[in-house]
Amino acid sequence: MIAPKQVQEILDAVRIEEVVGEFVALRRRGVNFIGHCPFHTEKTPSFNVNPTRNIFKCFGCGKGGSAVTFLMEHENFTYPESLRWLARKYNIEIEEVERTPEQLAEQQMADSLYIVNDFALEHFQGQLFDTDEGQSVALAYFRKRGLREDTIRKFGLGYTPDQRDLLLKTAMQKGYSVDLLKKNGLVSQDGTRDFFRARVMFAIHNLSGKVAAFAGRTMSTEKSVPKYVNSPETEIYVKNKTLYGLFQAKKAIRQFDECILVEGYMDVISLHQAGIENVVASSGTSLTEGQLQLIKRHTDNLKILYDGDAAGIKAALRGLDLALEQNMNVRIVLFPNGEDPDSYVQKVGSEAFQQYITQEAQDFIIFKTRLLLDETKSDPLKRSGLVKDILNSIAKIPDPIKRSIYLKESAALMGMSEEMLITETNKLIGSGMKKREEQAARSPQAASDSDPYMPAAEPDFHFSDEQPPMPSAPEDAAVLAPDFRPRRNLSRSAEFQERDVIRLLLMFGQQQLEQENTSLAAYVLTDIEDSLGDFDNPLYGKIAVEYRDLLQQGNPVDGQYFVHHTEKQISDLAVDLMTSPWQMSQNWIEMRNFPLQHQRDPELNFTEDMRQALDWFKLHKLDKMRRVVNPARLKAANEEGDMDAVIRYTRIQMKINEVYNTLAKRRNMVVPPR
Ligand code: UTP
Ligand code: MN
Repeated sequence: MIAPKQVQEILDAVRIEEVVGEFVALRRRGVNFIGHCPFHTEKTPSFNVNPTRNIFKCFGCGKGGSAVTFLMEHENFTYPESLRWLARKYNIEIEEVERTPEQLAEQQMADSLYIVNDFALEHFQGQLFDTDEGQSVALAYFRKRGLREDTIRKFGLGYTPDQRDLLLKTAMQKGYSVDLLKKNGLVSQDGTRDFFRARVMFAIHNLSGKVAAFAGRTMSTEKSVPKYVNSPETEIYVKNKTLYGLFQAKKAIRQFDECILVEGYMDVISLHQAGIENVVASSGTSLTEGQLQLIKRHTDNLKILYDGDAAGIKAALRGLDLALEQNMNVRIVLFPNGEDPDSYVQKVGSEAFQQYITQEAQDFIIFKTRLLLDETKSDPLKRSGLVKDILNSIAKIPDPIKRSIYLKESAALMGMSEEMLITETNKLIGSGMKKREEQAARSPQAASDSDPYMPAAEPDFHFSDEQPPMPSAPEDAAVLAPDFRPRRNLSRSAEFQERDVIRLLLMFGQQQLEQENTSLAAYVLTDIEDSLGDFDNPLYGKIAVEYRDLLQQGNPVDGQYFVHHTEKQISDLAVDLMTSPWQMSQNWIEMRNFPLQHQRDPELNFTEDMRQALDWFKLHKLDKMRRVVNPARLKAANEEGDMDAVIRYTRIQMKINEVYNTLAKRRNMVVPPR
């Protein structure tokens, strides 16, 4: 393990142009460098390297990041591999951190388990390639299933004959510990028999390519024999955090910015052999949260290939709301009856297969809507359950723009009014928020003041088979957050203001504000402390909170920290924010009618930029308070006849209006009378 302090030392030493320069021919252009993007083919160079910010960004394909990201993408390195490469380049000697005795023991155990698996792999491969039986039975079987020898080797396939204890005996002869064999599940718990017998074997690799476990497939068609058996879970094999094929697929997943998910081992191997390499398998179960996290590290785009029946598919869909919550784009492809990805690609070939999955891919929400609509065709009562189900999925999507697009489409599909779906979704979001707040209130570090925005309510739908109301969609509904319709006085979305606050934090957080005698970050985060849990875009909120926490722990960070963030969404966002300052200030100019010549270079203008950003940010939060949050409390107090509360909330309302008006005036905003 590399010590965190040394990680910093390495990152500080890195000069992005020197690192990228080893792989890409760069030309100087102003303070930056430019070259042909190594991640996509282009005629004119749009690949930018910015030495000041130590990041690269391709304006053609959108790829961007730090030197570490570059090495991970370009060289297919893991994070530590990139750091080691950089350390070597900059002559930094890495001292591995001291570990506690427990950590050491754990590591030693894991190492020994891997060593035993390596031995087993060699054994299974030897049985496959170097014995008569292996060749005539197992190798012939793989060949019959269309696998080439290079594929068989690449995926670590093997064979175990029908013998009671061949592996066990060989292992003992070579001095391997029977306890470890038992622990890995290669030998029965009483230590007398092999676990895998009379099967072709599949090695299951971990992320760095070590063999973590095995699966064995029977070659018999006997129904009573389980088709596949698997190693048990161990320290080195945690099923819900393992995706079959990810080690072999990760480079292609990043390259194509998409992950294809299939059900079976053979599907992965067959597609890979056909040149479709960005494929992983969940191994027959529905996707777990841990597996999703693994995918999300590499891409936000998930394409799921299903070969099951409707019931199976419905069950599998349930897990996918998780992916929506993570703001991933999920698409579904179904296969013709009786075909699975393996059989289909072997039948039609790689090109036709690619074409098929491109054409047939349906958006997850739309797919789910259609599937459920079909099921409830003749039963209007069941339909209201369907609508709830769909809206529940949509409410999980953090991106309000995406949400509004889905609401529009599903409204049209279901023949319902978009307005109503928006209202109901907002209720669900509100009650989701309430639930989260209640959870937070129960935990010790709870946020102090947590008033729900909206009353929790289950949507309640009534259907008639008469004319469905036509979806009524104002033009702008598709691009505006459903819960933030345009208002006369605030022309930009709240998210825009949030984005700008985050941009300032990342770009100028460590700059000192002379008048305030503090850093910009400390100033900004203290100033909006009350709203930190109230970001409309959860990703921005997350960054703000993480920034604040680090600041409070006395570890001030800057944009580079987020550029190197382990969460891909955050590091991507950081790079985006830090590469488009001019675009942003252009927006500022338009929206506030500032004469262009008064706008100084944003690098010099951060203090004024910050004051403006904070005012606008607060204006948006206050606006929500005075229109939604406080009136709801007032109404509730009125209904309960709690006069004290009525008075309190009325006072608060007046105070909010006052502050709002002051800020609005300062920003030259026309405030409509209320
Ligand atoms: P399938 O039955 O679709 O198998 O199960 P498959 O991958 O197409 O295998 P072939 O083509 O018949 O060889 C899909 C996946 O479900 C898991 C395995 O991970 C399998 O790849 N499975 C299936 C089991 O774990 N046990 C079983 O008994 C069956
Ligand atoms: Mn199959």
